[in-house]
Amino acid sequence: MHQRIRIKPALFAILAVSSCAGSLGETGSSSPASGKNPFKDVAFFLNPSYTANVEATAKKHPDEADTIRKVAKIPTAVWLDSIKAVDKLPDWLDAAKKQQDASGKPTLTVVVVYDLPNRDCSAQSSAGELKVAENGEARYMNEFIDPITAQFKAHPDQPIVVVLEPDSLGNLATNMALPLCQEAKPVYKNGIVYAIKKFALPNVSVYLDAAHSGWLGWDDNRAKIAKIFKSVLHDAGGPSMIRGFALNTANYTHLSNRDGAVLEPTNPCPNELTYAKTLGKTLEMYGFKNHGYIIDTSRNGKGSIRAAWGSWCNVHGAGLGERPRAEPEPGIDAYFWIKPPGDSDGVSDPSQPRYDPMCGGPDAAKGAPQAGVWFESYFMDLVHNARPPL
Ligand code: BGC
Repeated sequence: MHQRIRIKPALFAILAVSSCAGSLGETGSSSPASGKNPFKDVAFFLNPSYTANVEATAKKHPDEADTIRKVAKIPTAVWLDSIKAVDKLPDWLDAAKKQQDASGKPTLTVVVVYDLPNRDCSAQSSAGELKVAENGEARYMNEFIDPITAQFKAHPDQPIVVVLEPDSLGNLATNMALPLCQEAKPVYKNGIVYAIKKFALPNVSVYLDAAHSGWLGWDDNRAKIAKIFKSVLHDAGGPSMIRGFALNTANYTHLSNRDGAVLEPTNPCPNELTYAKTLGKTLEMYGFKNHGYIIDTSRNGKGSIRAAWGSWCNVHGAGLGERPRAEPEPGIDAYFWIKPPGDSDGVSDPSQPRYDPMCGGPDAAKGAPQAGVWFESYFMDLVHNARPPL
């Protein structure tokens, strides 16, 4: 997954944004924009399969085992990246319930929903199982979103956050020249509208993915994504159907340094906190109010690690970032480890299926397995480069 082709801003300014303000219909959902931050006053679910990967790595590195084991106590999101993966959801939610019953504290599970037809339409490494041309839209709704919804309904007394379809709407904003993205346009929109409506449950809060500053930070790209959000949420029942927006999912952009100003001086958002604030102002002009932002800090601890901001695959030299927590800054619902750090972004061997040149490029760590597979040496680098340290 991730950034793919970043289209630089057009030379002309977007002048008419303020005329778009206001007037979208508002219907209630569980934790709508005006409601409570779902990350506040809760414990976070620890995914046993993630902690098992960390534990196995700790065993192989006895000298550093104590430090490594600290990662096993840090929460990560769970990813539903295929129809088959939904089979794991009941176990995850049951385990979260056990954790909740044992601690007496509401225990939040963060679920990434990631299986749109023509997924990853501008890159290779996370190409998915569903195709627009092969009835993907109906399959996405019936075989993926419906069973997820059923599980959310079967666990009514535990809080759930959904990070909805990383990269998808970002691709619609900037990658329409690519046939696979062009073909995906109506289907991405319909799929996301369907999911938002289904997930409007008392225990579920939805964050739509808004890519990251190095992709959508430019003025014209922010205007493009705002228009897309407005249209999608209009069809889904209004902006308050979602709690907010997820930034930096599986990317590496630092919270606050000025790397972006060096790498792309024309981008007014040199880092993720500036992006959150600036995107918020743009979205306000399109009628969005009181939305919360979450930022993936799993791998953005260390700055000055890439030669190109567009590098998104297993970026060499990255370190674990800020630990997940609620309200770290005004307007930010949470920092969270959305990408489980240690999972690969994509295979580095060009002879393998789903190879993307970014994963063999100069900024990428070598020896990487397929996306989503545990990449032990990379995990160790993340641990060594952690900022703050473990
Ligand atoms: C991959 C998914 C994986 C996720 C979390 C994505 O890049 O495409 O298959 O579940 O990362 O590691």
